[in-house]
Amino acid sequence: MTDDAVLTEQLDYYRARAMEYDKWWLREGRFDRGPEANTRWFAETTELEHVLERFDPRGDVLELACGTGLWTRHLVDYADSVTAVDAAPEVLAINGARVGDAGVRYVEADLFTWSPEERYDACVFAFWLSHVPEARFEEFWAMVAGCLKPGGRVLFIDSARTERSTAADHVLPEDGGDDTMTRRLDDGREFQIIKRFYDPAELERALGELGWKASVSGTPEYFIYGTASRG
Ligand SMILES: C[S@@+](CC[C@H](N)C(=O)[O-])C[C@H]1O[C@@H](n2cnc3c(N)ncnc32)[C@H](O)[C@@H]1O
Repeated sequence: MTDDAVLTEQLDYYRARAMEYDKWWLREGRFDRGPEANTRWFAETTELEHVLERFDPRGDVLELACGTGLWTRHLVDYADSVTAVDAAPEVLAINGARVGDAGVRYVEADLFTWSPEERYDACVFAFWLSHVPEARFEEFWAMVAGCLKPGGRVLFIDSARTERSTAADHVLPEDGGDDTMTRRLDDGREFQIIKRFYDPAELERALGELGWKASVSGTPEYFIYGTASRG
């Protein structure tokens, strides 16, 4: 499949998955990997919330690929304004109902063609970078640079490579392979998506080459996270 075809199917997947998306975060159903794995997961998701707290996303904040609001609900506690972008109307509806903040501006848009009309103090994206194909990495980060006010900052959070993160019936893409993976819904429907796993040091270096001053680290098993600003 071409990147374009996979990206279309990737969006179809998230639209169809909207109602069951949070099971991943809550370790329910096919994402329940047993007590030890789940306890570790929840300890690490709490660590991510502390990462957000330390980042302190004040001012005008842009959230890319906001999804069902797992992070939007926290951003509203820090920010003066939140603009939340996603291409799936189904997840935007869930997000709006969850966050219940009339001050959040929702934008339905495809991030591979969208460009910002305003500039932001901070840009946050969780579990999105791993869905950006390698060939669009540079273009994506150029778009992010164009979102920022002078001195603006980026926080991103994403998946580390571990089988225990995904559903029991999912197989991760091969390390060094073509970055596509098959995802299943509870009803058995299958979709091809992009899923890229980053080594923190390599990602930091790649961002440095694009002119970012970045710092990338990880939690013990499940997640990576990083901050970046224009160097
Ligand atoms: C893995 S989810 C992350 C959601 C949220 N950030 C979170 O952490 O829960 C990826 C999100 O990207 C959205 N998405 C997929 N393709 C997109 C595209 N081309 N443009 C904008 N959003 C897209 C999906 O609708 C989904 O909400």
